[in-house]
Amino acid sequence: MKKIAVLTSGGDAPGMNAAIRAVVRSCLHYGIEPYGVYDGFKGLYENKIEPLDRKDVSRIINRGGTILGSARFLEFKELAYQEQAVKNLKNKDINGLIVIGGDGSFRGALALNKLGVYTIGIPATIDNDIAGTDYTIGFFTALDTAVESIDKLRDTSFSHQRCSVVEVMGRHCGDLALYAGIAVGSEFIVTPETGFDKALTLEKVKESFERNKRHAIVVLTEKMTDVFELSRDIEETTSHETRATVLGHVQRGGTPQAFDRVLSTEMAERSVYLLSQNETSKVVILKGKEITELDMERAVNMKKETPNKRYGLVGQLKN
Ligand code: F6P
Repeated sequence: MKKIAVLTSGGDAPGMNAAIRAVVRSCLHYGIEPYGVYDGFKGLYENKIEPLDRKDVSRIINRGGTILGSARFLEFKELAYQEQAVKNLKNKDINGLIVIGGDGSFRGALALNKLGVYTIGIPATIDNDIAGTDYTIGFFTALDTAVESIDKLRDTSFSHQRCSVVEVMGRHCGDLALYAGIAVGSEFIVTPETGFDKALTLEKVKESFERNKRHAIVVLTEKMTDVFELSRDIEETTSHETRATVLGHVQRGGTPQAFDRVLSTEMAERSVYLLSQNETSKVVILKGKEITELDMERAVNMKKETPNKRYGLVGQLKN
């Protein structure tokens, strides 16, 4: 393995830059030439592939976003686009590719692997929705952002004896809402795993005001329901003013917190090591305290386990 390229793909996540840095520095450590692909699989198809040196990744360990850029490029599902990408890599004698992103990105990596490119995936998404790894890069930073915002909402909610309905990101995974709900002591959470039961949600908020609480917090994963409509229903049922807040893309940015930087660095080093050993089609994962790897095909087809015990905690501790 003489040359390795790295790209970031899908929704960006805090810590991606720390991973890019560690890929480049690890390549240099193993005597491999590192290359960066700009704008994900789109850039790979468009041949936006440049050498990276030590200095290109200086002072980025603490920066949010990705210096390489990212894109959602659905065309890459088509063979013609994949073949062009392989051609672009081959023209530069690059035969290893590290893909930093979510499971959609890993499907792109798998396709390239079938065309002869050695590929390793690093799970990076604020959603924490990748089966096999305990945590993905960016999840804890996004969680901190959500928790900090909800703490601020709680201040004003308490002052006015209101209910705060807060929508966080997560796509099809409730982890952001679940962990944020636990961290702020919310009355109720609604996620893809719990499903949305409007009557139950109203009952829980009502119960909480009946216990003479001054405020209530409900945290929901995006797209579970219209949070503005839910707020109006809560006001009607409880006679407490209610405000809805959608946290949105603010959760995707910002300085990666320490754990995300460490995770990024360790996963990136492992991915370069694996390629240096001519391993391919693997996703690097965190299992307990260990950085290890899983077969990529298996990882993208696995179902993520629901942390049922954690779900139980929200209901158990709200009183
Ligand atoms: O996958 C990360 C994520 O932020 C999801 O939580 C969200 O559903 C989606 O990306 C938003 O995508 P976009 O930035 O393309 O609007």
